[in-house]
Amino acid sequence: MLSRDEKERIEAEAGRYPSRRAALSEALMIAQEARGWLGDEALADAARELGISSASAESVATFYELVYRLPVGEHVIQICDSVSCWIRDGESILDHLRERLGVELGGTTADGLFTLVPAGCLGLCEAAPAAMIDGEAYGGLTTEKLDAILDGIRGRKRGDAAQR
Ligand code: FES
Repeated sequence: MLSRDEKERIEAEAGRYPSRRAALSEALMIAQEARGWLGDEALADAARELGISSASAESVATFYELVYRLPVGEHVIQICDSVSCWIRDGESILDHLRERLGVELGGTTADGLFTLVPAGCLGLCEAAPAAMIDGEAYGGLTTEKLDAILDGIRGRKRGDAAQR
């Protein structure tokens, strides 16, 4: 069930568009924010707020990479698997992540801290290889740079990410 605050925020988003349907991606993100992922019930509730069927919302959620339909870790690493990153050694970055985290794509570390997922082009091709971590873009990745980023995240207190 959506909170009053979530409903109000969805209404505010809906008011910004000529059609309520146009606010669906924002509504899904609002519903996901406090839960960390978007389960069936939260998806249906967000859709209902906009007068949209769950099936329609599901089809949008499926194609929207920032909507997580399964539980994820505290931090989500989206590693670009498109051509510019692949050409510029993105595969080595992915291999390093797999090894360091001990998970495959789609997996979450045993401590629940990181989830590793593939992403289409992140719009950072000139800075390939690239990744997005908790919605923040990182380009020019090397294994050393990535380690420093992950060490920094690991060093944060739990809950800090949600407050940024
Ligand atoms: S191909 Fe990776 S950011 Fe564009």
